[in-house]
Amino acid sequence: VFGRIDHIGVAVDDLDGAVAHYRDRLGMREQHRERIEEFGVDAVLLEIGDGHVELLAPLSADSGVGRFLESRGPGLHHVAYQTDDIDSALESVRAAGIELIDDSPRAGIRSSRVAFLHPKSTGGVLTELVEPAH
Ligand code: CO
Repeated sequence: VFGRIDHIGVAVDDLDGAVAHYRDRLGMREQHRERIEEFGVDAVLLEIGDGHVELLAPLSADSGVGRFLESRGPGLHHVAYQTDDIDSALESVRAAGIELIDDSPRAGIRSSRVAFLHPKSTGGVLTELVEPAH
């Protein structure tokens, strides 16, 4: 059902500061930047091998990432697995008894389709499925 790991999501409170940190100290390049109103974030993708680190800064304090920062501070937010067919992947995890945050896919970064699984069902790891734009 799942392909490779597509990206890990990292919550940050200072997007440009985080981009500079990764670039200057870790040599990771900004590849893409996008405001995703649906999720209330500004997102930056940093290239790392075949995958990405996705930096997420909230547009408001009451967004999901805003609440995460408030309660836990900056840090690892989610892991995202790539799938060729998110509709059947969601059916599979639902059939396996995984609780879903998104019953159906939503529009994600770079015109992908994404859905989140509830961390209660995944050992405390907020998990995202990503079907890249074809
Ligand atoms: Co993500």
